[in-house]
Amino acid sequence: MPKDLIAPHGGSLINRVVADDQRDAMLTRAQNAPLVTLSDVALSDLNLIAIGVVSPLTGFMGSEDYKRVVHDMHLISGLPWSIPITLPTATDIADTLKVGQDVALADKSGKVVAILELSEKFTYNKEVEAQNVYRTTEEAHPGVARLYMQGDVYLAGDVWVLEMPEPEYPNEFLTPAQTRAKFIEKGWKEIVAFQTRNPIHRAHEYLQKVAMEIVDGLMLHPLVGETKSDDVPADIRMESYRVVLEHYYPKDRVLLNTFPAAMRYAGPREAIFHALCRKNYGCSHFIVGRDHAGVGKYYGTYDAQELFDEFDKRLIDITPLKFEHAFYSKKQQTIVTAKTSIYGKDDWMFLSGTQIREILTRGEPLPEEFTRPEVSEVLLRGYQQMKSES
Ligand code: ADX
Repeated sequence: MPKDLIAPHGGSLINRVVADDQRDAMLTRAQNAPLVTLSDVALSDLNLIAIGVVSPLTGFMGSEDYKRVVHDMHLISGLPWSIPITLPTATDIADTLKVGQDVALADKSGKVVAILELSEKFTYNKEVEAQNVYRTTEEAHPGVARLYMQGDVYLAGDVWVLEMPEPEYPNEFLTPAQTRAKFIEKGWKEIVAFQTRNPIHRAHEYLQKVAMEIVDGLMLHPLVGETKSDDVPADIRMESYRVVLEHYYPKDRVLLNTFPAAMRYAGPREAIFHALCRKNYGCSHFIVGRDHAGVGKYYGTYDAQELFDEFDKRLIDITPLKFEHAFYSKKQQTIVTAKTSIYGKDDWMFLSGTQIREILTRGEPLPEEFTRPEVSEVLLRGYQQMKSES
């Protein structure tokens, strides 16, 4: 590993994609194994493991790691880890499987995509997981709702992925090994990652550009896995990212790459998870603004930032860049935060997600102070198309 980039979490980048010369043997193993079908979220977790996004994990968590992660946000090795990466299954299916055997993992179409070397199966308490990971047991929380719907037994063990799926955005898909190579090629040593599940608004752009002043490059890293239904669809977002980069960012200082993970909406714990994944991609800094990965009113504005302080900084290693809530000031005519604003709340321009959706559904552009006109145009077109298709 070149010395100049940050080391992956745990020291080395995991690769669990079967090598070409092993594929035939692995396929034979898979053909003789019982089949388990993966949900979309489990499938995306599998692919994160395969390409090292969640290094040091080499498979789905066993009960000891799981318990430490849920209760104490560390793996049994002592490394920080905040989100369980588990494979839930229905009890009747789990009952047919024997620990020690291979299990063939299939996507929803029935295609076998991986082998799980089943090392353990265990039951778990969903309310305990919900309370610890999501800080609530309410089903109104989308992450908790998903947890309550899933199977009651976790299957654990190392995985081998036979073939990675075609990426949805092939021109904007680099694995952690590939981003590391790209950063070296560009001569970047310090890179800031920006996680997002939204179009880039002016406040996002402000955070990114402030951060870009102190590092060599920005990896704009939108999440493109499963999100809740009222989030802006990834296709529309991708178009909006391309257009805002084209008009407002220096090309040679930004890498647009996709993050193929599902959104958990676990707020503070997901912020830690997001940061550790970006460390694996080779990023030295990570932007954490207001209510990172939050939903509804479940988390305080700066809870995610504060959670970083509970860890040993040396073990997290990637540096969180903590930003105040940013918004447009009508009188100062620029983006400000509580640290730079000189007028009160009446002066701030703030649009909630619901208000944005309402404006777009009415067919109106978003205010320029809030969003670049090119982005607004893309969103408007996307919403009109969604309306005509529904
Ligand atoms: S998230 O679920 O991916 O966190 P979003 O795409 O809205 O949602 O946010 C991306 C990042 O920008 C997060 O770190 C979030 O905290 C930050 N952020 C979003 N809007 C603002 C804002 N107005 N001021 C400060 N930080 C913000």
